[in-house]
Amino acid sequence: MTNKLVFFGGGNMAEAIFSKLRNNPSFNIEIIQNNHERAQELSHKYPEFRVQQTLDNSLDKDGILIIAVKPQHAKEAIAPIKEKIKNCIIISVMAGIPSKTIINWTDNQRVVRTMPNTPASLGLGATAIYCPELVTAQERTLIYSIFEAIGIIYPAQDESFVDKVLPVTSSTVAFIYYFIEGFINHAVERYGFTETDARNLVNQTVMGSSAMINKNPDIAIEELRARVTSKKGTTEQGILTFEASGLHDIIAKAMDNCYNRALEMAKEFN
Ligand SMILES: NC(=O)c1ccc[n+]([C@@H]2O[C@H](COP(=O)([O-])OP(=O)(O)OC[C@H]3O[C@@H](n4cnc5c(N)ncnc54)[C@H](OP(=O)(O)O)[C@@H]3O)[C@@H](O)[C@H]2O)c1
Repeated sequence: MTNKLVFFGGGNMAEAIFSKLRNNPSFNIEIIQNNHERAQELSHKYPEFRVQQTLDNSLDKDGILIIAVKPQHAKEAIAPIKEKIKNCIIISVMAGIPSKTIINWTDNQRVVRTMPNTPASLGLGATAIYCPELVTAQERTLIYSIFEAIGIIYPAQDESFVDKVLPVTSSTVAFIYYFIEGFINHAVERYGFTETDARNLVNQTVMGSSAMINKNPDIAIEELRARVTSKKGTTEQGILTFEASGLHDIIAKAMDNCYNRALEMAKEFN
């Protein structure tokens, strides 16, 4: 069976997803993009998808609508199409808007919340997904398959985990960049590497470390670290410096501040 899958908003995150579903026979894809120029660009790039500037037909109960507009535009954007999306499954990729708010805006109880992250555009995303009980097991499998196309998924047992994942996967992309910036800057300023060389070397080290974690799923990260930290060696000096500065406490504080901001933002949309 082919399900109609409509992307409401054809921006960066929507494109990360529909570009990976090009040859997927499960979906008949339509993109709603209000901006004429962007709509034209998408119809040239994806001739196999129907691109419209407004939703011109109602979705039935097997249809799926992915809301991928910016959270601050959502309420206004949804109002004119409310009657057309009463019966379908609604999936939100919007950060911070609770499903009860989307239910209020749409009069539709079948609202699935997701939180993808930026590496989705490379097929290396990590997406938390919360499906309410009204979504059947078969529908759930179909929904999961959309996000499996852009990386790994985390099926959340309750909706709070879609917000709790922000400091674990979403904002974490920027946190990791920030950490990397620190290594690159000091390699350039103190040790005289060129910016390009420092970037390549640090980036390769991050990719290599991540590949080591992937290759050894049964070994604790702490153990992997211990294996490259000889007693009285060079690495130990660096780790002791991190410990003395309370780096893990700093990370915990950054995660809590990030999550608390998500909770504050959710209240703003209520
Ligand atoms: N990017 C990420 O890494 C990421 C990660 C997790 C979640 N998200 C979520 O994904 C959503 C989209 O983010 P994004 O980064 O993809 O933003 P974006 O690139 O700005 O995409 C939003 C798109 O929706 C279009 N749009 C606005 N109002 C519309 C309407 N009434 N009808 C049809 N299209 C409309 C916008 O067009 P105009 O720009 O021309 O107005 C724009 O092309 C956000 O809610 C965000 O929280 C993004």
